[in-house]
Amino acid sequence: MLEIKDLSVWYGGINAVKGISLSIKRGEIVTLIGANGAGKSSAIRAVAGLVKPRGSIVYTDKDGKDIELVGKAPEAMVKLGIALSPEGRKILPHLTVEENLLLGAYTLDDRAVVAENLEHAYALFPRLKERRSQTGGTLSGGEQQMLAVARAMMSNPDLLMLDEPSLGLAPILVDEVFKRITDINKEGRTILLVEQNAFAALRIAHKAYVLEVGNITLEGTGHDLLNNDKVREAYLGG
Ligand SMILES: Nc1ncnc2c1ncn2[C@@H]1O[C@H](COP(=O)(O)OP(=O)(O)OP(=O)(O)O)[C@@H](O)[C@H]1O
Ligand SMILES: [Mg+2]
Repeated sequence: MLEIKDLSVWYGGINAVKGISLSIKRGEIVTLIGANGAGKSSAIRAVAGLVKPRGSIVYTDKDGKDIELVGKAPEAMVKLGIALSPEGRKILPHLTVEENLLLGAYTLDDRAVVAENLEHAYALFPRLKERRSQTGGTLSGGEQQMLAVARAMMSNPDLLMLDEPSLGLAPILVDEVFKRITDINKEGRTILLVEQNAFAALRIAHKAYVLEVGNITLEGTGHDLLNNDKVREAYLGG
């Protein structure tokens, strides 16, 4: 569904992503793990159209049509069925939970579809429904992360991209968020998951890539990398 070839991201003279290639099949959970500054966010933001990369990103939509994403605007990505839950959640603290969710549906103009997607988001995250009128800033960290994921779900994406959903969460909440990610995948949606929490990510991933200072240095199934000596030493604490 996504073929990334020779993708590079530059910020002025800084080369954050150095010509990486990866492929994602429809229905998979694919994770990109790596340390701080490895280029994970830069790569996922390039797919979402938020930074302009070099190279090629070919997306196959649900009708089987191949579309080059490089050069397209973020709104175009959402219309193609791609959504991003950004690093650091980026929820609006003074808006209610429901208002935050509705922002995720900004590209949709059919109100019935928006209402349907909202009910679906609440079905996935019942706690958000209970707190629908509460402001985003009063939610706990875990609830805010759920809100960020639910907001990305509001466009009913085929490809859901998540940038560090475990950031700042206690282990029990990480488990809860990752359980929801698995549920979303079971609905038939493809997931691209960027994580520093290699253990949590590899446990649920069908396919995984390790990114080190802008280069992919290892790839395999989630299971393979969980049992890989180099990964264990560098990312799983030995
Ligand atoms: N807007 C920017 N301008 C200049 N340099 C940037 C910018 N954004 C990122 N970088 C640099 O690009 C490199 C990769 O950053 P990126 O945010 O992609 O890493 P990351 O793997 O997501 O890290 P983290 O796990 O800390 O989120 C870093 O060296 C960072 O300083
Ligand atoms: Mg990042």
